[in-house]
Amino acid sequence: MALKYRWTIALIFFAAAGTLLVNACKKTGGSEYRTHPVSFVVPDGFPDPVYRFEGNPLTEEGFALGRKLFYDGRLSKDNNFPCASCHQQFAAFSTFDHQLSHGFNNQFTKRNAPGLFNMAWLKEMHWDGGINHIEVQPLAPITAPNEMAEDIGNIIAKLEQDKTYRDMFRQAFGDENITSQRMLLALTQFVASLVSADSKYDRMKKGRAVFNESEKEGYRIFQARCASCHTEPLFTDLSFRNTGLELDGYLMDYGRMGITNNPADSLKFKVPSLRNVALTAPYGHDGRFTGLSQAIGHYSGGIAPSATLDPSLAGGIPLTDVEIFYLREFLFTLTDSSFIRNERFAAPD
Ligand code: HEC
Ligand code: HEC
Repeated sequence: MALKYRWTIALIFFAAAGTLLVNACKKTGGSEYRTHPVSFVVPDGFPDPVYRFEGNPLTEEGFALGRKLFYDGRLSKDNNFPCASCHQQFAAFSTFDHQLSHGFNNQFTKRNAPGLFNMAWLKEMHWDGGINHIEVQPLAPITAPNEMAEDIGNIIAKLEQDKTYRDMFRQAFGDENITSQRMLLALTQFVASLVSADSKYDRMKKGRAVFNESEKEGYRIFQARCASCHTEPLFTDLSFRNTGLELDGYLMDYGRMGITNNPADSLKFKVPSLRNVALTAPYGHDGRFTGLSQAIGHYSGGIAPSATLDPSLAGGIPLTDVEIFYLREFLFTLTDSSFIRNERFAAPD
Protein backbone atom coordinates (compact mmCIF):
# COMPACT_ATOMS: atom_id res chain seq x y z
CA MET A 1 0.00 0.00 0.00
CA ALA A 2 2.66 2.45 1.09
CA LEU A 3 4.75 1.55 -1.92
CA LYS A 4 1.90 1.95 -4.37
CA TYR A 5 1.13 5.30 -2.88
CA ARG A 6 4.71 6.45 -3.32
CA TRP A 7 4.63 5.42 -6.96
CA THR A 8 1.55 7.50 -7.49
CA ILE A 9 3.32 10.44 -5.99
CA ALA A 10 6.36 9.88 -8.18
CA LEU A 11 4.18 9.77 -11.30
CA ILE A 12 2.39 12.96 -10.41
CA PHE A 13 5.75 14.55 -9.82
CA PHE A 14 6.95 13.66 -13.31
CA ALA A 15 3.73 14.99 -14.73
CA ALA A 16 4.36 18.22 -12.82
CA ALA A 17 7.86 18.47 -14.23
CA GLY A 18 6.42 18.08 -17.74
CA THR A 19 3.99 20.92 -17.30
CA LEU A 20 6.75 23.11 -16.02
CA LEU A 21 8.58 22.89 -19.32
CA VAL A 22 5.45 23.96 -21.14
CA ASN A 23 5.06 26.88 -18.77
CA ALA A 24 8.59 28.01 -19.28
CA CYS A 25 8.03 28.17 -23.06
CA LYS A 26 4.88 30.15 -22.66
CA LYS A 27 6.71 32.64 -20.61
CA THR A 28 9.59 33.13 -23.02
CA GLY A 29 7.39 32.87 -26.12
CA GLY A 30 5.33 35.92 -25.40
CA SER A 31 4.72 38.05 -22.39
CA GLU A 32 1.03 37.26 -21.90
CA TYR A 33 1.38 37.80 -18.20
CA ARG A 34 3.72 39.46 -15.82
CA THR A 35 4.69 38.10 -12.42
CA HIS A 36 6.66 39.83 -9.69
CA PRO A 37 9.73 37.83 -8.70
CA VAL A 38 10.54 37.42 -5.02
CA SER A 39 14.05 36.57 -3.96
CA PHE A 40 14.42 33.77 -1.47
CA VAL A 41 16.80 35.02 1.19
CA VAL A 42 19.10 32.47 2.82
CA PRO A 43 19.73 33.61 6.41
CA ASP A 44 23.33 34.33 7.40
CA GLY A 45 25.16 31.19 8.40
CA PHE A 46 22.57 28.82 6.90
CA PRO A 47 23.74 26.20 4.40
CA ASP A 48 22.48 26.24 0.81
CA PRO A 49 18.84 25.18 0.70
CA VAL A 50 17.92 21.85 -0.88
CA TYR A 51 14.90 23.36 -2.64
CA ARG A 52 15.93 26.14 -5.01
CA PHE A 53 12.66 26.97 -6.73
CA GLU A 54 14.08 25.53 -9.94
CA GLY A 55 11.24 25.28 -12.43
CA ASN A 56 9.02 27.00 -9.88
CA PRO A 57 10.19 30.59 -9.80
CA LEU A 58 9.11 32.30 -6.59
CA THR A 59 6.74 35.18 -7.36
CA GLU A 60 4.36 37.35 -5.38
CA GLU A 61 1.49 35.88 -7.38
CA GLY A 62 2.52 32.25 -6.83
CA PHE A 63 3.13 32.86 -3.14
CA ALA A 64 -0.25 34.59 -2.68
CA LEU A 65 -2.02 31.70 -4.39
CA GLY A 66 -0.12 29.17 -2.25
CA ARG A 67 -1.04 31.05 0.90
CA LYS A 68 -4.71 31.11 -0.05
CA LEU A 69 -4.66 27.38 -0.76
CA PHE A 70 -2.90 26.64 2.54
CA TYR A 71 -5.69 28.34 4.48
CA ASP A 72 -8.56 27.04 2.35
CA GLY A 73 -10.79 24.29 3.76
CA ARG A 74 -11.97 23.46 0.24
CA LEU A 75 -8.83 21.38 -0.14
CA SER A 76 -10.49 18.88 2.22
CA LYS A 77 -13.54 16.67 1.74
CA ASP A 78 -15.90 18.42 4.15
CA ASN A 79 -14.28 21.83 3.63
CA ASN A 80 -13.28 21.89 7.31
CA PHE A 81 -9.64 20.84 7.29
CA PRO A 82 -7.31 23.22 5.53
CA CYS A 83 -3.57 22.67 5.91
CA ALA A 84 -3.75 25.42 8.52
CA SER A 85 -6.11 23.40 10.72
CA CYS A 86 -3.15 21.23 11.69
CA HIS A 87 -0.41 23.77 11.00
CA GLN A 88 -1.21 26.86 13.07
CA GLN A 89 0.96 29.93 12.75
CA PHE A 90 0.96 30.80 16.46
CA ALA A 91 2.37 27.33 17.14
CA ALA A 92 5.09 27.78 14.49
CA PHE A 93 2.75 25.90 12.15
CA SER A 94 2.50 22.79 14.30
CA THR A 95 -0.77 21.73 15.97
CA PHE A 96 -1.21 23.44 19.29
CA ASP A 97 -1.72 21.07 22.18
CA HIS A 98 -2.62 17.96 20.17
CA GLN A 99 -0.69 14.81 20.76
CA LEU A 100 -1.73 13.33 17.43
CA SER A 101 -3.20 15.66 14.86
CA HIS A 102 -6.75 14.97 13.78
CA GLY A 103 -8.58 15.44 10.53
CA PHE A 104 -11.63 14.30 8.56
CA ASN A 105 -14.42 12.62 10.54
CA ASN A 106 -12.54 13.42 13.74
CA GLN A 107 -10.05 10.68 13.00
CA PHE A 108 -6.58 10.87 14.44
CA THR A 109 -3.37 10.45 12.51
CA LYS A 110 -0.66 8.41 14.11
CA ARG A 111 1.82 11.25 14.31
CA ASN A 112 2.31 14.65 15.89
CA ALA A 113 2.20 17.51 13.38
CA PRO A 114 5.65 19.10 13.18
CA GLY A 115 6.14 22.83 12.91
CA LEU A 116 6.62 24.12 9.37
CA PHE A 117 9.63 26.35 8.91
CA ASN A 118 12.93 26.10 7.06
CA MET A 119 11.35 23.36 4.93
CA ALA A 120 13.49 24.39 1.95
CA TRP A 121 16.44 22.77 3.75
CA LEU A 122 14.84 19.32 4.12
CA LYS A 123 15.65 16.67 1.60
CA GLU A 124 13.27 14.25 3.29
CA MET A 125 10.03 15.16 4.98
CA HIS A 126 7.74 13.57 7.56
CA TRP A 127 8.98 11.80 10.67
CA ASP A 128 9.99 8.77 8.63
CA GLY A 129 11.32 10.68 5.62
CA GLY A 130 8.61 9.08 3.49
CA ILE A 131 8.29 12.16 1.29
CA ASN A 132 11.36 13.15 -0.64
CA HIS A 133 10.17 16.23 -2.49
CA ILE A 134 8.46 19.28 -1.12
CA GLU A 135 6.39 19.75 -4.29
CA VAL A 136 4.54 16.46 -3.84
CA GLN A 137 4.28 16.60 -0.06
CA PRO A 138 0.76 18.16 -0.02
CA LEU A 139 -0.66 15.10 -1.80
CA ALA A 140 -0.08 13.07 1.35
CA PRO A 141 -2.36 15.08 3.69
CA ILE A 142 -4.85 15.94 0.92
CA THR A 143 -5.54 12.31 0.05
CA ALA A 144 -5.09 10.68 3.49
CA PRO A 145 -8.53 9.48 4.68
CA ASN A 146 -7.81 10.64 8.24
CA GLU A 147 -6.49 14.06 7.21
CA MET A 148 -8.13 16.00 4.39
CA ALA A 149 -9.68 12.91 2.71
CA GLU A 150 -10.15 14.69 -0.60
CA ASP A 151 -9.60 13.83 -4.23
CA ILE A 152 -7.59 16.20 -6.39
CA GLY A 153 -10.26 16.15 -9.09
CA ASN A 154 -12.90 17.30 -6.61
CA ILE A 155 -10.68 20.08 -5.34
CA ILE A 156 -10.07 21.36 -8.84
CA ALA A 157 -13.81 21.27 -9.54
CA LYS A 158 -14.44 23.29 -6.38
CA LEU A 159 -11.77 25.86 -7.15
CA GLU A 160 -12.86 26.26 -10.77
CA GLN A 161 -16.18 27.63 -9.58
CA ASP A 162 -14.45 30.46 -7.77
CA LYS A 163 -13.58 33.47 -9.89
CA THR A 164 -10.97 34.64 -7.40
CA TYR A 165 -9.07 31.40 -7.93
CA ARG A 166 -9.37 31.59 -11.70
CA ASP A 167 -7.91 35.07 -11.53
CA MET A 168 -5.16 34.05 -9.16
CA PHE A 169 -4.12 31.05 -11.26
CA ARG A 170 -3.99 33.33 -14.29
CA GLN A 171 -1.91 35.90 -12.45
CA ALA A 172 0.50 33.24 -11.20
CA PHE A 173 0.71 30.93 -14.22
CA GLY A 174 -0.55 32.84 -17.23
CA ASP A 175 -4.00 31.36 -17.78
CA GLU A 176 -7.04 30.21 -15.85
CA ASN A 177 -6.19 26.54 -16.05
CA ILE A 178 -6.46 25.12 -12.56
CA THR A 179 -4.36 21.96 -12.44
CA SER A 180 -3.00 19.81 -9.65
CA GLN A 181 0.54 20.63 -10.75
CA ARG A 182 -0.02 24.33 -10.44
CA MET A 183 -1.71 23.88 -7.09
CA LEU A 184 1.29 21.95 -5.81
CA LEU A 185 3.77 24.50 -7.13
CA ALA A 186 1.91 27.37 -5.50
CA LEU A 187 1.59 25.54 -2.18
CA THR A 188 5.31 24.88 -2.35
CA GLN A 189 6.02 28.57 -2.88
CA PHE A 190 4.20 29.32 0.35
CA VAL A 191 5.53 26.45 2.47
CA ALA A 192 9.13 26.83 1.30
CA SER A 193 8.98 30.56 2.09
CA LEU A 194 8.35 29.87 5.77
CA VAL A 195 11.83 30.76 6.96
CA SER A 196 12.48 31.17 10.67
CA ALA A 197 15.84 32.66 11.65
CA ASP A 198 15.14 35.60 13.93
CA SER A 199 15.15 34.12 17.42
CA LYS A 200 17.08 35.52 20.38
CA TYR A 201 19.68 32.85 19.58
CA ASP A 202 20.07 34.26 16.05
CA ARG A 203 20.33 37.80 17.35
CA MET A 204 22.90 36.67 19.93
CA LYS A 205 24.93 35.12 17.11
CA LYS A 206 24.90 38.45 15.31
CA GLY A 207 25.84 40.37 18.46
CA ARG A 208 22.40 41.98 18.68
CA ALA A 209 21.30 40.22 21.87
CA VAL A 210 23.04 38.90 24.96
CA PHE A 211 22.33 35.59 26.69
CA ASN A 212 21.81 35.67 30.45
CA GLU A 213 23.81 33.26 32.63
CA SER A 214 21.23 30.44 32.49
CA GLU A 215 20.94 30.66 28.71
CA LYS A 216 24.73 30.63 28.37
CA GLU A 217 25.02 27.59 30.58
CA GLY A 218 22.20 25.87 28.67
CA TYR A 219 23.91 26.61 25.37
CA ARG A 220 27.17 25.16 26.67
CA ILE A 221 25.45 21.93 27.77
CA PHE A 222 23.52 21.82 24.50
CA GLN A 223 26.64 22.08 22.38
CA ALA A 224 28.35 19.34 24.36
CA ARG A 225 25.51 16.82 24.54
CA CYS A 226 22.78 17.56 22.03
CA ALA A 227 24.29 19.31 19.02
CA SER A 228 25.66 16.10 17.47
CA CYS A 229 22.10 15.44 16.27
CA HIS A 230 20.37 18.81 16.74
CA THR A 231 23.09 20.55 14.78
CA GLU A 232 23.20 24.34 14.36
CA PRO A 233 22.03 26.39 12.59
CA LEU A 234 19.03 24.24 11.53
CA PHE A 235 19.10 22.41 14.88
CA THR A 236 18.85 19.10 13.05
CA ASP A 237 21.49 17.11 11.18
CA LEU A 238 18.62 15.79 9.01
CA SER A 239 19.40 12.18 9.93
CA PHE A 240 17.11 9.45 11.28
CA ARG A 241 17.85 8.07 14.73
CA ASN A 242 16.43 5.80 17.36
CA THR A 243 16.51 7.72 20.62
CA GLY A 244 15.17 4.85 22.70
CA LEU A 245 11.48 5.76 22.74
CA GLU A 246 9.58 2.62 23.61
CA LEU A 247 7.35 1.30 20.78
CA ASP A 248 3.73 2.32 21.32
CA GLY A 249 1.88 -1.00 21.15
CA TYR A 250 -1.23 0.63 19.75
CA LEU A 251 0.32 2.84 17.07
CA MET A 252 3.00 0.25 16.15
CA ASP A 253 5.04 2.92 14.42
CA TYR A 254 8.47 1.67 13.38
CA GLY A 255 9.38 4.95 11.72
CA ARG A 256 11.95 4.90 8.94
CA MET A 257 11.79 1.12 8.55
CA GLY A 258 8.24 1.51 7.22
CA ILE A 259 9.74 3.35 4.25
CA THR A 260 12.98 1.49 3.63
CA ASN A 261 11.93 -2.01 4.80
CA ASN A 262 15.40 -2.20 6.29
CA PRO A 263 15.43 -3.66 9.83
CA ALA A 264 18.44 -1.45 10.56
CA ASP A 265 16.03 1.51 10.35
CA SER A 266 13.60 0.14 12.91
CA LEU A 267 12.34 2.81 15.32
CA LYS A 268 14.36 5.56 13.67
CA PHE A 269 12.71 8.94 13.26
CA LYS A 270 13.86 12.19 11.76
CA VAL A 271 15.82 14.43 14.09
CA PRO A 272 13.41 17.36 14.46
CA SER A 273 14.64 20.93 14.39
CA LEU A 274 14.51 22.45 17.85
CA ARG A 275 13.87 25.95 16.55
CA ASN A 276 10.58 27.26 17.99
CA VAL A 277 10.41 24.14 20.14
CA ALA A 278 8.81 26.06 23.02
CA LEU A 279 5.79 26.60 20.73
CA THR A 280 5.39 23.11 19.34
CA ALA A 281 4.35 21.01 22.37
CA PRO A 282 3.63 18.17 22.76
CA TYR A 283 6.84 16.45 21.70
CA GLY A 284 8.13 13.35 19.96
CA HIS A 285 6.82 11.77 16.75
CA ASP A 286 3.67 10.69 18.60
CA GLY A 287 3.48 13.66 20.94
CA ARG A 288 4.08 11.45 23.97
CA PHE A 289 5.89 14.15 25.97
CA THR A 290 3.63 16.95 27.14
CA GLY A 291 6.38 19.34 28.16
CA LEU A 292 9.95 20.24 27.35
CA SER A 293 11.32 18.99 30.66
CA GLN A 294 9.85 15.57 29.98
CA ALA A 295 11.21 15.49 26.43
CA ILE A 296 14.68 16.43 27.69
CA GLY A 297 14.43 14.21 30.78
CA HIS A 298 13.90 11.21 28.51
CA TYR A 299 17.57 11.34 27.51
CA SER A 300 18.74 10.91 31.07
CA GLY A 301 16.13 8.56 32.48
CA GLY A 302 14.00 6.85 29.87
CA ILE A 303 16.12 5.32 27.13
CA ALA A 304 14.71 1.92 26.06
CA PRO A 305 17.44 -0.46 24.87
CA SER A 306 17.07 -1.95 21.38
CA ALA A 307 19.22 -3.20 18.54
CA THR A 308 18.95 0.06 16.60
CA LEU A 309 19.35 2.49 19.52
CA ASP A 310 21.71 5.27 18.53
CA PRO A 311 25.16 4.22 19.82
CA SER A 312 25.73 7.68 21.28
CA LEU A 313 22.74 7.16 23.55
CA ALA A 314 23.70 3.71 24.85
CA GLY A 315 24.24 5.02 28.37
CA GLY A 316 21.65 7.79 28.05
CA ILE A 317 22.71 11.40 28.54
CA PRO A 318 22.92 11.89 32.29
CA LEU A 319 21.40 15.26 33.21
CA THR A 320 20.66 16.77 36.61
CA ASP A 321 17.45 18.73 37.17
CA VAL A 322 19.49 21.92 37.11
CA GLU A 323 21.03 21.00 33.77
CA ILE A 324 17.55 20.27 32.38
CA PHE A 325 16.49 23.71 33.61
CA TYR A 326 19.44 25.37 31.84
CA LEU A 327 18.74 23.43 28.66
CA ARG A 328 15.14 24.63 28.70
CA GLU A 329 16.26 28.21 29.19
CA PHE A 330 18.48 27.84 26.16
CA LEU A 331 15.76 26.19 24.06
CA PHE A 332 13.45 29.12 24.84
CA THR A 333 15.93 31.38 23.03
CA LEU A 334 15.05 29.51 19.82
CA THR A 335 11.55 31.01 19.74
CA ASP A 336 11.12 33.32 16.76
CA SER A 337 8.30 35.72 17.66
CA SER A 338 8.57 37.72 14.46
CA PHE A 339 8.01 34.50 12.48
CA ILE A 340 4.76 33.62 14.23
CA ARG A 341 3.56 37.21 13.95
CA ASN A 342 4.61 37.71 10.34
CA GLU A 343 1.49 38.99 8.51
CA ARG A 344 2.87 37.65 5.26
CA PHE A 345 2.36 34.11 6.53
CA ALA A 346 -1.01 34.73 8.17
CA ALA A 347 -4.41 33.81 6.74
CA PRO A 348 -5.31 36.07 3.80
CA ASP A 349 -8.27 38.44 4.36
C1 HEC B 1 -4.91 16.40 9.76
C2 HEC B 1 -3.75 17.24 10.09
C3 HEC B 1 -2.90 17.75 8.95
C4 HEC B 1 -3.29 18.45 7.84
C5 HEC B 1 -4.70 18.86 7.44
C6 HEC B 1 -2.07 18.75 7.11
N1 HEC B 1 -0.99 18.27 7.77
FE1 HEC B 1 0.95 18.55 7.26
N2 HEC B 1 1.51 17.24 8.68
C7 HEC B 1 0.66 16.64 9.58
C8 HEC B 1 1.37 15.57 10.28
C9 HEC B 1 0.79 14.66 11.36
C10 HEC B 1 2.67 15.54 9.74
C11 HEC B 1 3.76 14.53 10.05
C12 HEC B 1 3.47 13.36 9.13
C13 HEC B 1 4.36 12.17 9.32
O1 HEC B 1 5.44 12.30 9.86
O2 HEC B 1 3.97 11.07 8.88
C14 HEC B 1 2.73 16.62 8.73
C15 HEC B 1 3.87 16.94 8.01
C16 HEC B 1 3.94 17.99 7.09
C17 HEC B 1 5.15 18.44 6.44
C18 HEC B 1 6.55 17.89 6.64
C19 HEC B 1 7.20 18.51 7.85
C20 HEC B 1 8.51 17.88 8.22
O3 HEC B 1 9.19 18.43 9.10
O4 HEC B 1 8.87 16.82 7.69
C21 HEC B 1 4.79 19.46 5.58
C22 HEC B 1 5.69 20.26 4.67
C23 HEC B 1 3.35 19.61 5.71
N3 HEC B 1 2.88 18.72 6.65
C24 HEC B 1 2.58 20.50 4.96
C25 HEC B 1 1.20 20.41 4.88
C26 HEC B 1 0.40 21.04 3.84
C27 HEC B 1 0.95 21.89 2.70
C28 HEC B 1 -0.89 20.71 4.09
C29 HEC B 1 -2.12 21.04 3.26
C30 HEC B 1 -2.10 20.59 1.88
C31 HEC B 1 -0.91 19.90 5.30
N4 HEC B 1 0.38 19.71 5.73
C32 HEC B 1 -2.06 19.42 5.91
C33 HEC B 1 -0.65 16.97 9.81
C34 HEC B 1 -1.44 17.63 8.89
C1 HEC C 1 21.38 10.68 18.84
C2 HEC C 1 20.74 11.88 18.31
C3 HEC C 1 20.12 12.83 19.32
C4 HEC C 1 20.71 13.43 20.42
C5 HEC C 1 22.14 13.26 20.92
C6 HEC C 1 19.71 14.28 21.00
N1 HEC C 1 18.54 14.19 20.28
FE1 HEC C 1 16.82 15.17 20.71
N2 HEC C 1 15.85 14.12 19.24
C7 HEC C 1 16.46 13.21 18.38
C8 HEC C 1 15.43 12.54 17.61
C9 HEC C 1 15.65 11.48 16.54
C10 HEC C 1 14.20 13.05 18.06
C11 HEC C 1 12.81 12.59 17.61
C12 HEC C 1 12.49 11.38 18.46
C13 HEC C 1 11.16 10.73 18.14
O1 HEC C 1 10.12 11.37 18.27
O2 HEC C 1 11.16 9.54 17.78
C14 HEC C 1 14.51 14.06 19.07
C15 HEC C 1 13.56 14.81 19.73
C16 HEC C 1 13.85 15.82 20.64
C17 HEC C 1 12.88 16.72 21.21
C18 HEC C 1 11.41 16.76 20.84
C19 HEC C 1 11.23 17.76 19.71
C20 HEC C 1 9.90 17.71 19.02
O3 HEC C 1 9.64 18.65 18.23
O4 HEC C 1 9.11 16.80 19.19
C21 HEC C 1 13.55 17.56 22.06
C22 HEC C 1 12.97 18.69 22.88
C23 HEC C 1 14.94 17.15 22.03
N3 HEC C 1 15.09 16.09 21.16
C24 HEC C 1 15.94 17.75 22.77
C25 HEC C 1 17.22 17.23 22.88
C26 HEC C 1 18.18 17.68 23.86
C27 HEC C 1 17.97 18.83 24.84
C28 HEC C 1 19.28 16.90 23.70
C29 HEC C 1 20.55 16.90 24.53
C30 HEC C 1 20.36 16.64 25.95
C31 HEC C 1 19.01 15.98 22.61
N4 HEC C 1 17.74 16.21 22.15
C32 HEC C 1 19.91 15.05 22.13
C33 HEC C 1 17.81 12.96 18.29
C34 HEC C 1 18.75 13.33 19.25
